[in-house]
Amino acid sequence: MSTAAITVALGERSYDIHVGSGLLAEAGRIIRPLLPSPRVFVVTDEHLEALHLEALKDSLDRAGLENHGVVLPAGEQTKSFLHLESLLDAMLEARCERGTTIVAFGGGVIGDLTGFAASILLRGVPFVQIPTTLLSQVDSSVGGKTGINTRQGKNLLGSFYQPRAVLADIALLASLPPRELKAGYGEVVKYGLIDDPAFFAWLEDHGAAVVAADGAAGRQAVLTSCRAKARIVAADEREAGQRALLNLGHTFAHALEAEGGYGELLLHGEAVSIGLVLAFDLSVAMGLCREADRDRLVGHLRAVGLPVGLPPLPGGDWSTERLLAHFDKDKKVKDGRVAFVLARGIGQAFLCSDVPPDVLRAVLDKAIRRCGEAVS
Ligand code: GLY
Repeated sequence: MSTAAITVALGERSYDIHVGSGLLAEAGRIIRPLLPSPRVFVVTDEHLEALHLEALKDSLDRAGLENHGVVLPAGEQTKSFLHLESLLDAMLEARCERGTTIVAFGGGVIGDLTGFAASILLRGVPFVQIPTTLLSQVDSSVGGKTGINTRQGKNLLGSFYQPRAVLADIALLASLPPRELKAGYGEVVKYGLIDDPAFFAWLEDHGAAVVAADGAAGRQAVLTSCRAKARIVAADEREAGQRALLNLGHTFAHALEAEGGYGELLLHGEAVSIGLVLAFDLSVAMGLCREADRDRLVGHLRAVGLPVGLPPLPGGDWSTERLLAHFDKDKKVKDGRVAFVLARGIGQAFLCSDVPPDVLRAVLDKAIRRCGEAVS
């Protein structure tokens, strides 16, 4: 299977997303011409260390790139102040200079944390994303959003900082735990729902193959998603308008994750899957979207094995009030109003800042009443 390159057109900060199978072996050769000096610092997690770090290091060695690095614990908890500090310490201890390129080798957690560290180390050093999960290949590695979570919520500290390149090796998806691969699919579906109904229809036919790590289907899903993301980011890098559509389902998802404790209860992509359904529920409740479109979405998410409703919350109950309180901390709050991404149908997402509070409350109340019922 050949490698494809998609350009994120941002003037002098433009870069390519390389999508292909077996790219890890080519990583050194591909990134070498983009780097100011032949020194890289690789940030990864313990799962990747066990599976693929040697292959990456071999590739960097073969390209003559001196490489050091650090291995962090896997999991959302790593996107924290604590780990940001220890990562920056490790970079400084390793004598990273302004010409040293930081390589983020992992999923969304490693990419977001590492990109943020790269953006503030020595006031900004070059970095490259080598995303290893479906979620990071189709979304988080592209577009320069970096950051960490805080006590108050998800991704509330961070920066816009573009990488020099993104290398999405489809072959790596085959070594993902099935739950993680499936969770990433929540972000793939999002692109069909935003403005590409033909892609949604394609996913209805091929989604099962994507979540079963079929190489050809995975490549097509990653390529289509990255093309959409590159187009949106090029048009609106700093989220002044249409980039906010990429947050479809995310206001709900972030609240669910914060309540669930960023742990095993809900992976980010699973929370997004439930969030997509809630965004359609809200759109239907506001009379904006046909119920048939909402049901089509639920049917597809169920068919690939993604959750469509709230799971039981260990040690307590979900609370509408607590979920609403998380919305108020959302980054998209403007003049005290949360901007929700709603839909007029499959492929017709739009931003809405005047959701009636009673309708929102009723949608959450209903989701909580049905907790545990609709989880696949
Ligand atoms: N993940 C949403 C964005 O990059 O804008």
